[in-house]
Amino acid sequence: MKIMCVVLAAGLGKRMNSFLPKVLHTLHGTPMLHHVLNTLYELNPLRIVVVAGKHLKEIKESIGDVSVISFVQQKVPMGTGDALLKAWTALKGFQGTVVVVNGDTPLIMSKTLKQFLTLHSKEKNSVSMLSFIAEDPGSYGRVIRDGAGDIISIVEDRDATERQKKIKEVNSGVYAIETDTPHLLKEIKLNESKGEYYLTDIIGVAKDKGIKIGAYCIGSEDEFMGVNTKKDFGKVRQLMRDRIIKKWVNRGICFIDTNSVYISTDVKIDKGTIIYPNVHLEGNTRIGRGCTIYPNVRIQDSIVEDGAIIKDSTLIEGSVVKRRASVGPFAHIRPGSEIGEEVKIGNFVEVKKSVIGSRTKASHLTYLGDSKIGKNVNIGAGTITCNYDGYKKHVTIIEDNVFIGSDSQLIAPVKIGKGAYVGAGSTITNDVPSLALGMGRTRQINIKDWVLRKKLKVKKERSKRAKS
Ligand code: UD1
Ligand code: CA
Repeated sequence: MKIMCVVLAAGLGKRMNSFLPKVLHTLHGTPMLHHVLNTLYELNPLRIVVVAGKHLKEIKESIGDVSVISFVQQKVPMGTGDALLKAWTALKGFQGTVVVVNGDTPLIMSKTLKQFLTLHSKEKNSVSMLSFIAEDPGSYGRVIRDGAGDIISIVEDRDATERQKKIKEVNSGVYAIETDTPHLLKEIKLNESKGEYYLTDIIGVAKDKGIKIGAYCIGSEDEFMGVNTKKDFGKVRQLMRDRIIKKWVNRGICFIDTNSVYISTDVKIDKGTIIYPNVHLEGNTRIGRGCTIYPNVRIQDSIVEDGAIIKDSTLIEGSVVKRRASVGPFAHIRPGSEIGEEVKIGNFVEVKKSVIGSRTKASHLTYLGDSKIGKNVNIGAGTITCNYDGYKKHVTIIEDNVFIGSDSQLIAPVKIGKGAYVGAGSTITNDVPSLALGMGRTRQINIKDWVLRKKLKVKKERSKRAKS
């Protein structure tokens, strides 16, 4: 079976009440339109034509260069019938079955489309449509059948009579049309009430011409929910979230509360990982085997390797956390960082564009920016790499086995050599050689009986004031 696909995505999406083109609204990290395209790829189509409207540029940019996809523009949204007519010209020369889908039905599954196409070809139809039963048929087109149960037409909600409105079998917006069917799209008449050419009218037109048509009620409401409003969008987001979580539960991931975890479509998680409530895994994130992700963690575009522990309220962006490392609670790992094996990053530690060697510890209140830190280093509480001089960023190098005393500032560019110590409270402006002790603070002095003298002085002043 030779398949071509058309995605209708040129509508204004006015009901969304948004500046963003409707089909580019993202659901769990992926724009609605991309969800639809990912499903269509599974049909192995020879071509996918995306019909875009005034947002053609943004839509093209979001998809990029995909050889199987071509774009046509419907400058004025004159209805779904007119949109398909525009796509038809781009399919000149192709022969086979054209599958038409709306760009605003992102939950659509390839399994159902394949089943639909099998029925379409088995029945040797020229035109088929896919329908489903909607608990609340709302704004969907109603499927009108005759006494024998054959489809006669589709009537849009706004044009339906009170009796027709009660019909629960509705149009999913999915059609299969053979390319050798006489050109029906041009015969669709303008719907005067809406001022649009309805693609749904193709059924009535084909029926009148005695062309073989079919309607298959095989979809479920959850799968074909169209997104017209923000309310629909919220429902679809919830349904897709449930679908994603179910997939990971089946693959051996343990969720303490499946209702409060959000995982983007491109994320990958390995077996035996435990995920606590209110965790957000986003973008191109990979979580290894046997990790524990505690509550209120957001991980974006990052790799967390096997056995790592991410403690409460931690944000990790564009970084790698290696095997058995522990990060958090309340840590921020910023882009370009690499947290080595068995490293401990503790409370209120911020790491930016830094590489941290294995078994190093920065357990409390620390900022490590633009730094290269070796293995087995101990970074004391309150350490700050001062990487910015007001104009440029500079690098701090801390070699293996170094000990940085608490409350130290390392003024970059600076290097602390292997095994060196930095005394607590130091401001280090020069390199510290290997195995040396670097101290950068004023020496402590103790003034003997200073308190007694102070008390005496105060007492004298008070008695002087009392006398005067
Ligand atoms: C449409 C169907 C309806 C069906 C429902 C399923 C029509 C007339 N109605 O209604 O029977 O139950 O989908 O979800 O087809 N579009 C264009 N150009 C246009 C108008 C729309 O490309 O001129 C695109 C939109 O971007 C959208 C899709 O076509 O992705 C459907 O349009 P929309 O306005 O959402 O139609 P519905 O009212 O949902
Ligand atoms: Ca719609």
